Amino acid sequence: MNADGATLDGARVLVTGASRGYGAAVARALAARGAHLVLTATDPAHLARVAQQCADDGAACDLVALDLSSPGSVDAAAVQVGRAVPRLEGVVLNAGVLGPVGPLDALDADATGRAIDVDLTGQVRLLQRIAPLIADHAGVVLVTSGAAARAGYGAYAIGKAGLEAVGLMLRDEWAPRGIRVVAVNPGPVRTDMRAEAHPAEDPATVPPPAERVAPVLAVLEGVDPGPRVQASEWGLS
Ligand SMILES: NC(=O)c1ccc[n+]([C@@H]2O[C@H](COP(=O)([O-])OP(=O)(O)OC[C@H]3O[C@@H](n4cnc5c(N)ncnc54)[C@H](OP(=O)(O)O)[C@@H]3O)[C@@H](O)[C@H]2O)c1
Repeated sequence: MNADGATLDGARVLVTGASRGYGAAVARALAARGAHLVLTATDPAHLARVAQQCADDGAACDLVALDLSSPGSVDAAAVQVGRAVPRLEGVVLNAGVLGPVGPLDALDADATGRAIDVDLTGQVRLLQRIAPLIADHAGVVLVTSGAAARAGYGAYAIGKAGLEAVGLMLRDEWAPRGIRVVAVNPGPVRTDMRAEAHPAEDPATVPPPAERVAPVLAVLEGVDPGPRVQASEWGLS
């Protein structure tokens, strides 16, 4: 338990995009703290390795298929989450795709739309569908990026900027219920997406995602650091 009084032991937490990368690191850190995890990936088979690691740490773990590009999949996933747990004390919306990058007017319109469907439209729908499950005083983390609204990042920049806007709206709308809605930017972390975005970079020069999960854990434990935080600056003053 931290100074703000919440504990993750037994807390029911949904983590999207938990099959690899940052989401997998968040899931493992939560498992080590005794959370009851509801993990998603596009195919539950993708979650086998992470689920086994979380189970080895003693965590209860439910696996849910979720394809954010499909409204039907989002609706079905929300129903499945509700069957797995009656309430969520924590939500980490981490899943995402990079999509096509480059100047917006040079990008394929259909590919741009598909990435926005995953990074923004699907996230909004998921939040709407799971809203009745979210407990008063819960922590809701929206995983964002320094590329939000940045030139040259295409659909990804649009999706993350939109997601941050959603966070600001829900932060106010859910404040009467004591729900903390916080956008967390992990900063560069060694994942598949980072390698896709920066193919010439030596991955060894980028920190592993487990080194950047602290603000996510803090929000879920009861800390409200404000609407947006940068993981690489967490703990520095
Ligand atoms: N890596 C970085 O340097 C960095 C920096 C800033 C922000 N971020 C953010 O951190 C988050 C995680 O990124 P990452 O680097 O860990 O990426 P990653 O390794 O590519 O993992 C992406 C995750 O999202 C899931 N996903 C992909 N498409 C999906 C869809 N259509 N529906 C549902 N889930 C889907 C994947 O599940 P499957 O395994 O089933 O495909 C996977 O679990 C993202 O929101 C990203 O924008 C990353």
